[in-house]
Amino acid sequence: MERLSISIADYPKPGVVFRDLTPVFADGPAFRRVVHALVEQFEGRFDAVAGVGARGFLLAAAAAYATGTGVVTVRKKGKLPRKVLSEEYALEYGTDMLELHAEDLQPGSRVLVLDDVLATGGTLAAAARLFERAGARVAGVGVVMELAGLGGRAALEGRETRALLQV
Ligand code: PRP
Ligand code: ADE
Repeated sequence: MERLSISIADYPKPGVVFRDLTPVFADGPAFRRVVHALVEQFEGRFDAVAGVGARGFLLAAAAAYATGTGVVTVRKKGKLPRKVLSEEYALEYGTDMLELHAEDLQPGSRVLVLDDVLATGGTLAAAARLFERAGARVAGVGVVMELAGLGGRAALEGRETRALLQV
């Protein structure tokens, strides 16, 4: 799978090595393997799948379809039309705000949160806080690639976090 990711130096800012996983999504057998590997580690322990950001949506929709669960989107500020819960967070390259339609979740539901990359962990930690504020439980966090030098796992301490690949 690592051969299907491409590292781009100085994107989107000088000093950042951006890990582009779009080739994994574009390769049918690889995408299927990734989605199955992400869900099998949490099998039977979640009622909904959440995707964070554009690339997380691809994984979450496929995982939800494969497991017959619903999919929930955690979106960047200003994209959701109804009442939202909001959390600000810091990224490797800036700050942003994530939002959730809390009313889309059943109280107490167990949410598997998926994304492509775990870097500083700011994004996924903010998403996890949103689900807990919404009255849901975070069943676990699954990512395709963990950038192990950036401390993301520490930001998610206390939450079961699985990465298919650590670089
Ligand atoms: C990327 C990636 C993760 C996040 C990881 O998303 O898809 O969501 O950064 O970074 P962190 O662990 O340091 O928080 P990005 O914000 O670039 O948005 P996108 O998926 O919508 O393109
Ligand atoms: N999100 C935050 N840092 C990233 C990186 N280096 N590559 C891909 N996505 C990221």
